[in-house]
Formats: sequence, structure tokens, C-alpha cells
Amino acid sequence: MAEHHNAGLHGVSVGQTAISSVGQKSQGLSYRGYDIHDLAKNASFEEVAHLLIHGRLPGIETLDNYRAELIALRELPVGLIKVIETMPANVHPMDMLRTAVSMLGTLEPEEDCLNLDETRHIADRLVAILPTILGYWTDLHEVEAFAAQNQEPTMAGHVLRMLTNNKISNDQRRAMDVSLILYAEHEFNASSFNARVCAATLSDIYSAVTSAIGTLRGPLHGGANEAAMELIQSFDTVEQAIIGIKELLARKTKVMGFGHAVYQTSDPRSDLIKTWSKRLAVESADKCLFDISEAIETEMWQQKRLFPNLDFYSASAYHFLGIPTTLFTPIFVCSRVAGWAAHIIEQRQNNRLIRPNAEYIGPAARIFQPVGQRG
Ligand code: COA
Repeated sequence: MAEHHNAGLHGVSVGQTAISSVGQKSQGLSYRGYDIHDLAKNASFEEVAHLLIHGRLPGIETLDNYRAELIALRELPVGLIKVIETMPANVHPMDMLRTAVSMLGTLEPEEDCLNLDETRHIADRLVAILPTILGYWTDLHEVEAFAAQNQEPTMAGHVLRMLTNNKISNDQRRAMDVSLILYAEHEFNASSFNARVCAATLSDIYSAVTSAIGTLRGPLHGGANEAAMELIQSFDTVEQAIIGIKELLARKTKVMGFGHAVYQTSDPRSDLIKTWSKRLAVESADKCLFDISEAIETEMWQQKRLFPNLDFYSASAYHFLGIPTTLFTPIFVCSRVAGWAAHIIEQRQNNRLIRPNAEYIGPAARIFQPVGQRG
């Protein structure tokens, strides 16, 4: 039936983009032509954010200036601090972030959505400030001292400093850097597409990013990394995991962190983050978690030919980095905001209102009854 054919718009090309490509046969991933493996091996998140937001990889001097600018843009305005402090302590950090971005839009509004320099500046501001917002929130409720003005020179270090209390090793810093690179962009995924739908109405960048955060929150999209962690931690041993996965699949329960709407046989980002998860596992006190994760991967492939997506091994990597599970999806936001901004800019440059049709399946035309005459 027609509605099944297009359900979820899967397989339907709904626009053009020069930002990223999942490859001719849905087997790879590149950002503006650069293969994700090269970026994950050789680049920093700042270089990737510059590539996405400003359109090209920076040279040394531009990169130095960009890093300095991002550091200068970390600070929280007083009006935003007040709103963060007003939010209930038990709210999910994704809800807090969505509200915080909306609030920032009232304090530092986008004056002209067609002024590219202004939009790019706000995008950089969001990249820089989102970890600070999370850090302030986390410190408010879990940690004693807040250190927004930390001396961490990189975004990866800034994120780790804001979200953990640990002394950060070079391995940990690089693992976070790679994770931010992998999460930064992914073509017409649900949240980026939603950002484009919002931007296409000529709304402001904060509204588009707020819509995107709300879209990312669900477990079928960004929320999968938190759900995957909960699943992994529900097992104490490899044996339990194997039995547990069999039971879940027999009940037709979806196993979060597996499968993909576009990739058919593997997610090219998964092995990259898995390598880091494994490396961090060696240094971790937890000796079971990685083995349990691998057992789940093997079982999912044997039973259903389903492969881990980026979220699955990101979960254990973040856990080994000492990050609380409720902050996993917010880290995704800190990175993907660069991709969202690129999509908002691209949408505006060749804009047309996004307004598809629906096939009506409701009641046939009928007579309106005044309220007093209805049964
Ligand atoms: N666990 C168990 N079964 C899964 C599955 C998973 N993670 N992902 C897909 N399947 C099964 C479905 O149950 C369905 O089986 P059926 O044909 O017997 O009914 C079949 O595979 C197709 O699933 P469907 O949801 O239609 O595929 P999709 O391409 O629309 O879904 C996802 C893509 C990502 C939404 C889906 O794989 C999923 O929900 N994964 C878990 C959430 C997740 O990790 N999201 C992050 C994506 S990066």
C-alpha cells in the first residue's frame, strides 16, 4: 500500500545536501567529501565543526583563532543561569538543554536569519556554550564546585571537564574528540531534517535547534545511547546477556543501539568508537561491561543479522569515561549542533517551505451536528 511504501519517508530522497553523504550504496560516511575514517583518525572536533559550520577545513592560523574564539564563547549569561537554577532538579538534562537553548534565543536573539555571519557566530556560540550549560547543571545537582572557566584548550577537554570529576588523560581526551567527530553530522537524520523544516519557515536558528533537540531526545534517535547503556547494565555476565537478548528478540522487543534506517550491513562509525571503547575498558575498573557488549553484538548478528550503530559502543565508551548515563544524549547535542547549524544554513540558502501531502484515511464527509444535538 502507498502509505507503507513511504512510511517514515525511508528510501525517499526529499532534498539535496552538500554537507554529508552516506555513500552511493549506503555503506560509508563522508562530511563535505572527507571520509569519516580520515576525520576520526586525523582531525579534531574543532576542525570538523569549522568544516560543517564555515564550509572548509581550517589552516593552522584559522584553527588557532577558531579554538580561541570557541573558548571565549563558553561563558554563561546571568539570565540563563537564573533559568537553569529555576528548573526542577529531577528534569532530564535533554529537557533542560532544550529549555536553555530557547532561553538563550531570548537573550542573544538572531536578528537577521539571512545574515550568514551572524548565524555562523550563533552556531559557534552554541557549540561552545552547550557543554558549559550541562556542566553548570551537573554541578548544581551532583558536584561541589563548578569550573566553567576551565583551562581546557579543546572542546573534547571542555566537555569532559564539564561532565566528569576525573583527571583527564590524553586517551580520554582523544576518545571524546573522536566521539564528537562521529556524532557531528549524518545527512537527513530525523533531528537535522526537523531543523531544516523549522528553518524553511524562515524561523530563527534557536527555534530550529530547539526543535532538533526535542527530536533527538527519543530512544529511536539520539536517546538510543542511554537506552543501550541501561540494557548493557541490566546484565551481570556474558551468559546472562546471551539469554537476555534471545528473550528480548523472542518478545520482538527492540534492542536499542542496533539497526539503522539507512545502513543495511554495518554502521561505518561503530568500529571507530568500538576501538576506543575497548581501549578505555582496559584502563577501567569494570572488567565485564565490554565483554557483555561484545556478547550482545554477536548475539544480535547471529539471531537477526542486526549490527551495532554508533550509539551502542558510544554508551560503554562514555561509561568508561566516567560520564553519568543521563548525560549521554546531551553530549550528542553538543556535537550534532554543528551539523544542525550546517543544515539550517544550507536550507536557507536555497529555501522552499517544506510541506508534503498526506493521504486522508479519516471519515467520509458527514453532517455537522450542533453541540446540543450530539449523542
Ligand atoms: N532490535 C530488534 N529488532 C529490530 C531492531 C532492533 N534494534 N531494529 C530493527 N529491528 C527489526 C524490527 O523489529 C523489524 O522486524 P520485523 O520485520 O520482524 O517486524 C525489522 O527489524 C525492521 O525494523 P524497522 O524498525 O522497520 O526498521 P527501520 O529501518 O525503520 O528502523 C531503526 C531503523 C534505527 C529505527 C531501528 O533499527 C531501531 O529502532 N533501532 C533501535 C533504536 C536505535 O538504536 N536508534 C538509533 C539509530 S542510529
